[in-house]
Amino acid sequence: PRRIGVLTSGGDAPGMNACLRAIVRTAVYHNLEVIGFQRGYCGVLLGEYLTLDARSVANIIHRGGTILGSARCPEMHHVEGLERAASTLKGLGIEALLVIGGNGSMQGALSLAEHWSGQIIGLPGTIDNDLGGTDWTIGFFTALDTALDAADRLRDTAEAFDRIFLLEVMGRHAGWIALFTGIGGGAEEILIPEHAYDPDTIVKRIKESRSRGKRSHIIVVAEGACEGGVSRVAADIEGHGFETRTCVLGHVQRGGSPVALDRYLATELGVFAVQAALDGKSHVLAGKQGKTNRLVPLNEALDGNNQPPMHLLEINRFLAT
Ligand code: F6P
Repeated sequence: PRRIGVLTSGGDAPGMNACLRAIVRTAVYHNLEVIGFQRGYCGVLLGEYLTLDARSVANIIHRGGTILGSARCPEMHHVEGLERAASTLKGLGIEALLVIGGNGSMQGALSLAEHWSGQIIGLPGTIDNDLGGTDWTIGFFTALDTALDAADRLRDTAEAFDRIFLLEVMGRHAGWIALFTGIGGGAEEILIPEHAYDPDTIVKRIKESRSRGKRSHIIVVAEGACEGGVSRVAADIEGHGFETRTCVLGHVQRGGSPVALDRYLATELGVFAVQAALDGKSHVLAGKQGKTNRLVPLNEALDGNNQPPMHLLEINRFLAT
């Protein structure tokens, strides 16, 4: 290709900027022109873009968010929207489009591929770590550190007051952040969407551990762990005479300077994706498996293809006694 497009879409993730930098600098090195669409697919639909050169991505490697802006673009669910996006890409002479995002963004890329014949290459950018074809997604490690820091802080006050704390972390459909925060923070309970919610067992375990002398509890709850969310979990536990406090961490997890591993992943995959475009590849996700960069078909990258390691829940039963 001579001209490529790039966009960041869906929930922003720390490291998206580092990825943009790697993409633009690699493309410039290979004499490609780069168009950066603003606010995800919305910029493609509306023809809103920036021409990016090496200097446009200076001093962003350490910045959270995305200089291109991001959005969830409902028009991409309709044929008219997809046609409009395709016509902008044709009009601008874009030959390859690089999409940095999560599940929704990769779904959007697949839908767009039915209306546009250019190359499409996905890059995994989401704090949720829920894409198949890659072991890790850009942003997960930073979000995890933020959540873990919150868990550590709550532990201090939980211990001082002999309290039960519920920490809600992000992940509507994915338990990765909750699971890794719970293991890293030594949480007593970890509730995730991939495992059925069972309040009786939780209350039973709280009672047992109190009788063994444990005074404080940290329960990490993924956003989508159960119907009714963290307030339902709190109500279920309080219903048995225990006092609880809840901390909903929310979008704090999406911001901040990316940690080293996210910058590394973003940089390596950014370079790899441009090389894949130069090699004529299309409809693939540029992912990392073990220590190896891999291209996998986009449809394999979608939801459900990257289940969290459930054995962590089991080992936590004896670790959290
Ligand atoms: O997909 C990333 C994510 O942060 C999820 O963890 C969370 O459930 C969702 O986005 C929140 O979306 P929004 O920013 O649109 O509220």
